Amino acid sequence: MAFLPLCIIVIIAVTSATVNSCPPSDRAALLAFKAALTGPYSGIFDSWTGTDCCVNWYGVVCDPTTHRVADINLRGDSDDQPILQKASGGRSGCLTGSISPEICRLDRLTNLVVSGWKGISGEIPSCITSLSSLRVLDLIGNQLSGEIPKDIGKMQQLTVLNLADNAISGEIPASIVYLAGLKHLDLSNNQISGEIPADFGKLRMLSRALLSRQIPPSLLSNPGMGILNLSRNGFEGTIPDVFGSKSYFMVLDLSHNNLNGPIPNSLSSTKFVGHLDLSNNHLCGSIPIGAPFDQFEAPSFSNNDCLCGNPLKTC
Ligand SMILES: *[C@@H]1O[C@H](CO)[C@@H](O)[C@H](O)[C@H]1NC(C)=O
Repeated sequence: MAFLPLCIIVIIAVTSATVNSCPPSDRAALLAFKAALTGPYSGIFDSWTGTDCCVNWYGVVCDPTTHRVADINLRGDSDDQPILQKASGGRSGCLTGSISPEICRLDRLTNLVVSGWKGISGEIPSCITSLSSLRVLDLIGNQLSGEIPKDIGKMQQLTVLNLADNAISGEIPASIVYLAGLKHLDLSNNQISGEIPADFGKLRMLSRALLSRQIPPSLLSNPGMGILNLSRNGFEGTIPDVFGSKSYFMVLDLSHNNLNGPIPNSLSSTKFVGHLDLSNNHLCGSIPIGAPFDQFEAPSFSNNDCLCGNPLKTC
């Protein structure tokens, strides 16, 4: 009779070992991701060995219940990474290679941060839009090229989309307006703009705006957008006059484009604008009067064609 309990204990032990570790398919996807990256800092992947990718794999976090990979957090420019400092004393990391499409097999991923590595190139895998649980996609500070996947609007959980400081081209996909929960959009310092096919049906108005390289009005009127940085992208035309009393921006940076015309009056009716940068455009006319404008200083408006009024010279 002593045999039976022992047997049960063994079965429980085996079962829990299997359940508690990372699924082989997630592990394989991570290893494929690792294999596509090289460079002086590839030592950050030294800990990516062994069968359980949920334990001690640098930058990898699993969901405690499902044991599926939930976060990949690899920042090349972070100060708080002893591993990087140890690697060669520098703070700006460098990884080269590309982002493997195998990453799309991690279908429970909620955070994907691969930022500040300077040398990661190639395109953003188009399958990334199938990661329907993804909330944070942060690939700032690499050398990614190609276009933003057209169906980015499928990623309904997305709150942060940060693709700044890369070499991404093409237009802002029209579907981006469907990202209802988006709070932080930073596409600055890329080569975004350019033409899109005209047959957009419902979205024809938006596509017309994009054809003329204008800022999509819906991005500015979206009340949930806390941080919007479209600096350095070659946007043309006027700033759409679509702000409203619900608009709330911690950061609104439209600097270093080719925007012309006046600063829209509706911007003075917004609930809050913490940081405004309209500098280095071709704006002209009087700076609106109203609450958010009281706190802005001249640098927010510098290097335009003919802006006037507080805090610049009187009109
Ligand atoms: C917007 O992006 C540009 C370029 O990446 C950066 O220099 C600037 O500081 C950003 N603006 C804010 C307010 O963070």
